Amino acid sequence: MTDALQRPRPETGADTVRILVCASCRAVGGEPDSARPGAILAAALGAALAEGDNTDIAVETVECLSVCKRPCTVALTGAGRWTYIYGDLDPDAGAATLLTFARQYRETTDGIVPWRERAEAIRKGVVARIPPLPLARTP
Ligand code: FES
Repeated sequence: MTDALQRPRPETGADTVRILVCASCRAVGGEPDSARPGAILAAALGAALAEGDNTDIAVETVECLSVCKRPCTVALTGAGRWTYIYGDLDPDAGAATLLTFARQYRETTDGIVPWRERAEAIRKGVVARIPPLPLARTP
């Protein structure tokens, strides 16, 4: 287990947009002991969150999002919003792109950012989207 996985969960409010980063994926072709790409991305996100308008955006590390062959893998979620899972994010350059997308996501009520407004890495990296919970029941 890495240090990133041992961090306590940040305090989050009901409107907080949460970026969950898998810090367990191994780099494709990387050495077993090399830094995990997700840990690098999470650290970059943490540093970026300390600057600018990032109210109600939090980053957390998790152990696995079941997208293990596509590091970096992340989930973006918020109360009442669709949850998105992404893969193939660059550990070094992905933080700025992801944080921009998290701000766009935060400005929505349902989590759906128009496709044309999403960065290319976000468009290409999408793995899944999950409806807001609890699901509305049909009669
Ligand atoms: S180990 Fe990262 S998604 Fe499974």
